[in-house]
Amino acid sequence: MAEKIQIFDTTLRDGEQVPGCKLNTQQKLELAEALESLGVDVIEAGFPISSPGDFQSVYQIAEIIKHSTVCGLSRSVEKDIITAAEALQPARSPRIHTGIGTSDVHIKYKFNSTPEKIIERAVAAVRLAKKFVYDVEFYAEDAGRTENEFLAKVCTEVVKAGATVLNIPDTTGYCLPDEYGDKIRYLKENVKGIDKAILSSHCHNDLGLATANSIAAIRNGARQIECTINGIGERAGNTSLEEVVMIIKQRKHLGFFTNIHSKMLTEMSHMVSDRMGIPVQPNKAIVGANAFAHSSGIHQDGVIKHRENYEIIDPHEVGVNESAIILTARSGRAALAYRYRNLDIELGKEQLDILYKNFLELADQKKEIVAEDLLRLYDEHIVKKHKAVV
Ligand code: KIV
Ligand code: ZN
Repeated sequence: MAEKIQIFDTTLRDGEQVPGCKLNTQQKLELAEALESLGVDVIEAGFPISSPGDFQSVYQIAEIIKHSTVCGLSRSVEKDIITAAEALQPARSPRIHTGIGTSDVHIKYKFNSTPEKIIERAVAAVRLAKKFVYDVEFYAEDAGRTENEFLAKVCTEVVKAGATVLNIPDTTGYCLPDEYGDKIRYLKENVKGIDKAILSSHCHNDLGLATANSIAAIRNGARQIECTINGIGERAGNTSLEEVVMIIKQRKHLGFFTNIHSKMLTEMSHMVSDRMGIPVQPNKAIVGANAFAHSSGIHQDGVIKHRENYEIIDPHEVGVNESAIILTARSGRAALAYRYRNLDIELGKEQLDILYKNFLELADQKKEIVAEDLLRLYDEHIVKKHKAVV
């Protein structure tokens, strides 16, 4: 039987850390409601200690969200945790996300500390968070570069202290998929009491591997993926929600499912892009403008004959009405005839030959031929010629 993967969306926290992407409380509320409708299991609403505005956003999101868990970030610092608990106070299903860096580099250069003291702080943070909420997620920051044995020790101690979720962030986007998968498997096999918590992946995209690493994580025992809409986030971004959701949906043999309503993905992507003022790259998987657009003659001919020749996802599945046949100088006769057919113009062979020749001349001068161009070509080379002959 397929197993459920929890989708933890951090668009409003890790995503919003992107320079220039700051949202006001109203925008955050609107996006939080949309994320709930999309079906995300957990909404990381913000980092309440970071500013009074973020506190307010988390508080108000906690008030309106009915089904998703609402999560607030904190460091392993008493004031952070108390503030997160206050901000989450109205939530029906609150989660405090607390943690600390566990890699050698973080222990030495960020905290000037020792491994033993880091464990003490981690345990104290989880114990304090547990006084306010049942659901406490612990993050081992820079877990990607943390030695597995030490990571397992930290995880064992925080599970003992009551952590319900163990977040294993590849904070710097350093890991390769097999390394990250092995890390998750190692934790699954070596953390004492692991059956009391779920493992979560949180990947950054510095090497373009965030999605691959997240999938490796679930194949090795993680049951939650942390991700953002459009993959936005610190530096090169986080795992993209739409990518992992559609991989899980399309590749059923993996044996997983999510609760995401995939038909809402495109609309959600546009909404986040618009509110944050970050355009989506046209070739972005799943939600980019070209994700279902075909422009070379060979591909167009294949798609027109049978969509699955060149598409592995039905565009309706992600809320796109239909695949686009884009006319450029690389397009062929089949595409031209198809686009005329969409304009209710059925061309005979001779007409198609005439129009194709003129189309290519125009297409060599323009990036893309649009409907108005097609109608003008038809008028000039078919209608007027016909009138002249008559
Ligand atoms: O990337 C990271 O390590 C994080 C943590 C704060 C969870 O975003
Ligand atoms: Zn992160």
